[in-house]
Amino acid sequence: MIESWLERKSICICAGSGGVGKTTTSAAIALGMAARGKKVAVLTIDPAKRLAGALGLNELGNEERRVEADVDGELWAMMLDAKRTFDDLIEWHAPDERTRDAVLSNRIYQELSNAVAGSQEYMAMEKLYELHQQGRYDLLVLDTPPTRNALDFIDAPKKLAAFIDSRSLQFFTAPGFLGLKVFGRGAGMLFSVMKRATGIDLLEDLSEFFRSFGDMAAGFRERADGVNRLLADSRTAFVLVTSPSSDAIDEAAFFHHRLLDAGLPFAGIVANRVRPELPPENGAGAELEKMVGGELAAKVLASFEDERRLGARDQANLERLRKRLRRSPMIEIPQLDADVHDLHGLRLMDEYLFG
Ligand SMILES: Nc1ncnc2c1ncn2[C@@H]1O[C@H](COP(=O)(O)OP(=O)(O)OP(=O)(O)O)[C@@H](O)[C@H]1O
Ligand SMILES: [Mg+2]
Repeated sequence: MIESWLERKSICICAGSGGVGKTTTSAAIALGMAARGKKVAVLTIDPAKRLAGALGLNELGNEERRVEADVDGELWAMMLDAKRTFDDLIEWHAPDERTRDAVLSNRIYQELSNAVAGSQEYMAMEKLYELHQQGRYDLLVLDTPPTRNALDFIDAPKKLAAFIDSRSLQFFTAPGFLGLKVFGRGAGMLFSVMKRATGIDLLEDLSEFFRSFGDMAAGFRERADGVNRLLADSRTAFVLVTSPSSDAIDEAAFFHHRLLDAGLPFAGIVANRVRPELPPENGAGAELEKMVGGELAAKVLASFEDERRLGARDQANLERLRKRLRRSPMIEIPQLDADVHDLHGLRLMDEYLFG
């Protein structure tokens, strides 16, 4: 089924709220497509240690590695390291080595790359863009980070672009505006006291940072636009992953709405960890009582009823989601008996994703 969602697609982005199975689903989709002859790379974020191990990703590194898997195509995997990608970006845009080193070693850059513009969301997009430009894969599958707000990463390229266009950056980078006078005398004194007391030349850091960064801003801006275009391209597919819990469902419905609003290509929903629908006990309780006695039978029946209620609730929630999404395609993956932390586990998911 998911194969038809991904027909003629070169990018698949798995998004959804925290802990629903984005990383696992991305890996399973990638493995499945590779098994069907495609050359696929999966870009994971924070995979569980054992899954990372199974994909041969024991150490961070911003390069894809070939996964040793018995597939007709090729499976490559990479663990995204946001900080490294931002550094690569500086390296790419810096006109010369001096500028590059000035930026990379700058305290403010280091803060910034960890916080504002270096957000994991944006860096994931950057890496995706870079790999897409290189054109070495039939399909790129992107896992997305567990953000508080599942929508953050859609806005990330825009946020960076806005930061670059912001008045504060322009103000700092405009020629002639560097130096003490920008901050007024009070601030200037504060900086110089600080310098004497701590040895940290904050002002020097600041102006140097903005000077170097300003020269690169245009390149960043262009790339942020490129990333935006790539997200909206008809060869991109957003797959929304959700669990059947009502919170996740609400978030998925909202997310779906936002995707359409932003003109981004939505492909379908993967409902993961769905608990089974159980039939009513239908007199099995009485049988059981004969076999194991009343007390134990009652306990078994009670927990069976609990399971049944949970299964029924999952179905009711998913039905609600189907209605809200006007019958968009949906794939259900059951709650498996164990965590999915190796290729075998990913193959168990294959049956449902591709079945
Ligand atoms: N269908 C399933 N059956 C059983 N366990 C599952 C299933 N899908 C995922 N899991 C397990 O659930 C846990 C969370 O999955 P995963 O890491 O893929 O979620 P995530 O959405 O990427 O989380 P985060 O938002 O923290 O990145 C993992 O331990 C994984 O093995
Ligand atoms: Mg994850």
